[in-house]
Amino acid sequence: MIIIKVIVCISLFIFTVHLKLLGSQWYNMATILLCSMSTGSTKHSNIILIVLFLDQVRVIAVVLRKETVAYHCLLCCQDQLHISDGVSSVHTDHFDFPYGTADIMCPIPSGCETVSHIAVTSAANKSGGTDRSHTSGCYGQQVKNQKVKSDSFPYNFTVCLSTMFDFTNVLQLVQSLEMLQLLGVNRVVVYKTSCSPETQRILDYYTHKGLVEVIPWSLSKFINVSRGWLPSHGPGDIHYLGQIPALNDCLYRYMYQSKYMALHDIDELILPQSCIMVQYKYFIYCWLELLPQLEKKYGADQCYMFENNVFPITVTLPPPTSQTLPLQNHHWQNVSGVNILAHLYHEPIIPETHYSNFKIIVNPRAVYRATVHGLLKSVKGCAWVDRNIARMYHTRDPRQPKLTPNQLIYDGRLLSYSTHLIPAVNTVLRENGLLPEDSIQ
Ligand SMILES: *[C@@H]1O[C@H](CO)[C@@H](O)[C@H](O)[C@H]1NC(C)=O
Ligand SMILES: *[C@@H]1O[C@H](CO)[C@@H](O)[C@H](O)[C@H]1NC(C)=O
Ligand SMILES: *[C@@H]1O[C@H](CO)[C@@H](O)[C@H](O)[C@H]1NC(C)=O
Ligand SMILES: *[C@@H]1O[C@H](CO)[C@@H](O)[C@H](O)[C@H]1NC(C)=O
Repeated sequence: MIIIKVIVCISLFIFTVHLKLLGSQWYNMATILLCSMSTGSTKHSNIILIVLFLDQVRVIAVVLRKETVAYHCLLCCQDQLHISDGVSSVHTDHFDFPYGTADIMCPIPSGCETVSHIAVTSAANKSGGTDRSHTSGCYGQQVKNQKVKSDSFPYNFTVCLSTMFDFTNVLQLVQSLEMLQLLGVNRVVVYKTSCSPETQRILDYYTHKGLVEVIPWSLSKFINVSRGWLPSHGPGDIHYLGQIPALNDCLYRYMYQSKYMALHDIDELILPQSCIMVQYKYFIYCWLELLPQLEKKYGADQCYMFENNVFPITVTLPPPTSQTLPLQNHHWQNVSGVNILAHLYHEPIIPETHYSNFKIIVNPRAVYRATVHGLLKSVKGCAWVDRNIARMYHTRDPRQPKLTPNQLIYDGRLLSYSTHLIPAVNTVLRENGLLPEDSIQ
């Protein structure tokens, strides 16, 4: 017998979108992230997030791939329960783990004008959800944000960071969050599984400031998550702590809140190679300058792919003699984590990885399915950005550990932000009690 087991609530939002599809016609698309009732009692779980598309609801779920489940979609329309049959399709980026992300398409029955709530159950459960106890009043997830929006979003740039676990890298977190703000980012969404108390303090601080939204990401309570991206890299039933459903959650959660969205990690920064605004005294919004440039060169509504340049944290070298390192706060040594300004040499680009570990900035309203590197499904696909326009600075463990320091290549682009970055980082660290009160600016 096929049963969907416990279905877990992850998100409570609905979004509506205008998507330009094939030709010039505009279609109305609504998106719901939702969860449904429980239909079973074991510890296994399916996470359900939902998207409305035309006359259908798209449920983004985590499913056991080998099971073929017939779904019942329970739609609450004007306080009445309607039922339709859901059809599932698994995202291809499951990396051979037993569980994967899936879309369950639920037709909206005739007679249903507005869906206020929605839930999904296994069709194998005859009574699941349709009995009296459940129909008294609507249940499932509330449908929100049903207004179509194509401009004037509250945020210009949202960065989706997935997933944070056992995180202690406080200094790099603060540096990156300050860098992102200098680039023009207004919102950073952190899918958090676990972190150190100092990290939590920093996240609380930025949440209070309005920059960060923390989404608790506790799939591990329901499913055995892997800490690797392949089954051979770590035991578990789903890829890397459920990073892929998290990215898709972020995509739909912010689709109508943000003009653009960047999908990358906290140790990665996409930096334009020229930026007039970097000269400005107070604010430097280089991504605001970059995106119109990319749209002009590669076309609008694309996803833009940025080349990954690894700056190994095992190598600390001063800049070449012509450059000077700005004065930094020596108290940073006592803050846990990596100092990105100390690692300005990157590994050479090699053909084996050149086109694989990129990250993207995209118009989220032109996307159906996101993945770790790029998109699975979108309206217009992706364009590779010339490294002389912008590239990604990835400060992390070496990818090519056998290189000697003199094989690394200097790139001091980050230093042009340092006169803004250093005092901003000091302020945050000081306000969070991570620097002595009397330390220099
Ligand atoms: C069917 O659904 C009902 C209502 O949610 C639940 O109580 C019951 O345990 C389910 N049965 C099975 C076999 O999953
Ligand atoms: C978004 O960008 C515009 C310029 O394109 C700017 O005027 C506005 O202040 C920015 N909004 C935010 C929230 O930063
Ligand atoms: C998770 O996977 C490990 C390794 O396969 C296994 O030992 C453990 O029992 C699993 N836990 C659950 C809750 O399935
Ligand atoms: C780092 O912390 C230790 C122990 O608290 C302290 O003695 C030392 O002065 C600190 N160093 C800096 C540079 O802040």
